[in-house]
Amino acid sequence: MKTIIEPFKIKSVEPIRFTTKEERTEILKEAGYNPFLIHGDDVIIDLLTDSGTSAMSAKQWAGIMDGDESYAGSRSFYRFEKAVKEITGDKIIIPTHQGRAAEKILFTILGGKGKVIPNNTHFDTTRANVEFSGAEAVDLLCEVGKHPEQRADFKGNMDIEKLDKFIQETGVENIPVVMITITNNSGGGQPVSMQNIRDTKEICKKYGLPLFIDACRFSENAYFIKKREPGYENKTIKEICQEIFSYADGSTMSAKKDALVNIGGWLSVNDEELATQFRNLLIVTEGFPTYGGLAGRDLEAIAQGLEEIMEESYLQYRIRSTEYLGEKIVAAGVPIIEPPGGHAIYIDAKRFLPSVPPHQFPGQAIACELYIEGGVRGVEIGSVMFGKYDKAGKPVAPSMELVRLAIPRRVYTQSHIDYVAEVIIEVFKNREKLSGYEFTYAAPILRHFTARFKPVD
Ligand code: F0G
Repeated sequence: MKTIIEPFKIKSVEPIRFTTKEERTEILKEAGYNPFLIHGDDVIIDLLTDSGTSAMSAKQWAGIMDGDESYAGSRSFYRFEKAVKEITGDKIIIPTHQGRAAEKILFTILGGKGKVIPNNTHFDTTRANVEFSGAEAVDLLCEVGKHPEQRADFKGNMDIEKLDKFIQETGVENIPVVMITITNNSGGGQPVSMQNIRDTKEICKKYGLPLFIDACRFSENAYFIKKREPGYENKTIKEICQEIFSYADGSTMSAKKDALVNIGGWLSVNDEELATQFRNLLIVTEGFPTYGGLAGRDLEAIAQGLEEIMEESYLQYRIRSTEYLGEKIVAAGVPIIEPPGGHAIYIDAKRFLPSVPPHQFPGQAIACELYIEGGVRGVEIGSVMFGKYDKAGKPVAPSMELVRLAIPRRVYTQSHIDYVAEVIIEVFKNREKLSGYEFTYAAPILRHFTARFKPVD
């Protein structure tokens, strides 16, 4: 088989500013050893997130010029609405400025004290919006999804038996909605199978509950279904996407992922009564229902992005390039969540750096060293992000210590990815020299964004 090449040519480029290892050592120290506090210009390869970091196509940029900025009834809204309806089949499409804005509206209406919302795994902002409403967020991930070293095709799946039991025990009246996140970001960017979505729907039907999809990476998920699930090999990506959404009563979406834009999102729903409540809140928080916190040009770019995201040559390149990075570093012995997910590689920091205990943040140590070694920026997902303390003030670690390297869409070429692999492997070879970190400042909530650290002696 020949090399899978980038299915695009480059028309417009952005320079990368190169720095030396000495400079980066100083920059990182200045930033309190927190990659979030480094200026973007001081990063060589930025793998902090795949969200809002996509490169738009020439057609999307043309759409930006062509956007209709009418306050009400913008032509661009109708193009956006048509594009989203074609995929989701939902009756009402409400634009929002990003994913969490859709979540905020959904859970303000459906959440509240005493309510419980299950998901395969809630993403942080979804959990935060559920909890902010006073409700409780519960993760019901399948067992294999909790073991980084075990390979399986659909490690993002909902645990169907647990969901059934959970609904019986919690009481249908306390569950306003069931969510399923595709792909499962917090669970390693792992896909959910069509069978699992169908089974989740069956359970929802049995109890008369609505199912909403957190659809951020729906097209990547569809590609995994096509490649891994019997019966889907000859279907088009669009057909698979349509089937996925056919099981749902609505969706929340961050267009910053699988719509290939830098800002945007939606909340879609079939129920007219719910839609009225959503829209009323939208007008207060986001804007009129035909723009919802976005410019007309943004809606135009999303509509175009949704066509491009389902192109198979794009998805083949996208998923292969993530897998390629995973394969290269695994071959050198680097432990990761296996198999590689759709949008990111997750280094297993516990196995990478067993000498550094969780309370000294092994993931942070690796993220810092990747920056110093090669100017590569990733993010710790472990004790810094999710660590808690017991009553005696002793640290309680989350189950996994990870470093996520998320790959922006259409931004980096194969040689960039080769370079990233070289940097990771170099850090891995010298892992014995790495030490842990401790806080010099930590905010009471979402501390990973602003925390400052110093190396442990
Ligand atoms: N749901 C999932 C599964 C996500 O990954 C994200 C964002 C959101 C919802 C919220 O969307 O950022 O547009 O408000 N994930 C980004 C990330 C931030 O880096 O994984 P948003």
